[in-house]
Amino acid sequence: MSVKAARNVLIVDDEASMRRVLEIMLARMNFRTWAAADGVEAFRLLQEQAFDLVVSDLRMPGMDGIELLRRLRELGLTLPVIMMTAHGSIESAIEAMRLGACDYLLRPFDVETLELAMRRVFAQSDLLRRNAFLSEQAEGGGYLGDSAASRAVRQRIAQVAPTQATVLITGETGTGKEVAARAIHRASPRRDALFVPINCAALPADILESELFGHEKGAFTGALRERVGKFELADGGTIFLDEITEMPAPLQAKLLRVLQEGTVERVGSNRTLTLDLRVIAATNRKPADAIREQRLREDLYYRLNVFALDLPPLRQRPEDIEALARHFVAELAGARAVPITPAALAHLRAYAWPGNVRELRNLLERALVLSGGGALDVAHFPLDTPPAVAAPAAADAELTDLDLDHAVAAVEARYIREALRRSGGNKTRAATLLNVSERTIWNKVKRYGIDD
Ligand SMILES: Nc1ncnc2c1ncn2[C@@H]1O[C@H](COP(=O)(O)OP(=O)(O)OP(=O)(O)O)[C@@H](O)[C@H]1O
Ligand SMILES: [Mg+2]
Repeated sequence: MSVKAARNVLIVDDEASMRRVLEIMLARMNFRTWAAADGVEAFRLLQEQAFDLVVSDLRMPGMDGIELLRRLRELGLTLPVIMMTAHGSIESAIEAMRLGACDYLLRPFDVETLELAMRRVFAQSDLLRRNAFLSEQAEGGGYLGDSAASRAVRQRIAQVAPTQATVLITGETGTGKEVAARAIHRASPRRDALFVPINCAALPADILESELFGHEKGAFTGALRERVGKFELADGGTIFLDEITEMPAPLQAKLLRVLQEGTVERVGSNRTLTLDLRVIAATNRKPADAIREQRLREDLYYRLNVFALDLPPLRQRPEDIEALARHFVAELAGARAVPITPAALAHLRAYAWPGNVRELRNLLERALVLSGGGALDVAHFPLDTPPAVAAPAAADAELTDLDLDHAVAAVEARYIREALRRSGGNKTRAATLLNVSERTIWNKVKRYGIDD
């Protein structure tokens, strides 16, 4: 028998009486409730506390429901949101669904309607979680690919996972650094404790410090409550320091001490906490360059690089493309089986993939929309930089005419000619290939005197 913890629900409504009614309804259904009077307050609560669901009014002064939803998704919070709206604002309700709200309720509604909506939302999110778990298990580690290079990566992951070793993962953007870090955690004895990722590039220096180390109440202006740092959260588990070279130098020095001593102090506290951490760091820069450019402290580098895991770019392992593409199509299209034509696969294998696996996944997502459920074919993959026309890097000395407009025009004309050639002169398809509007193509064809 499994005992379910009560779910936490955040109610957002500018009207106190409405908040009260909802609180009573939800408490009767055995939910734990919190209430916020506007989007700003809700957003703050959501950053401090884990919720299972948000039930929000759409129209509120200050930050409205749609803006709240947008900010949540920007933060990467995927929790379900139900919007409540009056009859008049059905368009906004639809906009909210488009932004990822799970459902909307037209006011006034009774307790049964609310209960039904909540049940639907939770059934859905439980299902998603279960599926994610099952597919992780089936993937055998999560880092996919059958090429020799990918198999070697999986072997390295399996080799380092059971140890305590600090790992430095390098590789171009989108090569799967976070995927690999999670795979290491999952295959390690720490798998039941937390994997805590933090992106060092995403936050300004002072906020990053208190994110990592936590702070005491009143440690600085604005520190209204105490905050548990990411290091503390990762105690017994794994902390993933993403884009480590973007961490400011003084903080790198502080991190070095954490690695050496296994202790942290919250900002504004002199209490020393001893932690059991495993550190995995990642960067898409070359460590040697980063050290030379003083983006990475050399002493920290040696501490992190106990075990180095370098992930190969996708263009070096085109054998992986088919398996990855099929995996992503199955994941994105769900139950529908969508075939990929041999021509499309050849087209994908010939591409240079500057954005690596992430770009492949994004492209497949777009292709599924363009194909409308039919087989994925060449025309559904508008590749941004067709390899056949990628300009050979001209030596600087050859650049006599430095007029930027001329240079841009020359490149544009070249790409448009190639897109028209590939689409057999069809401007609509060429526009798709180039990822611009049809109107842009017409204008530029005229401006550059391209005859088709
Ligand atoms: N080997 C792989 N197997 C399965 N999925 C992968 C693999 N590599 C990358 N992906 C997918 O590609 C996307 C990007 O992966 P990830 O976030 O790990 O890249 P990254 O190296 O951390 O990129 P960045 O440097 O830009 O942060 C994710 O959607 C991930 O699921
Ligand atoms: Mg990453």
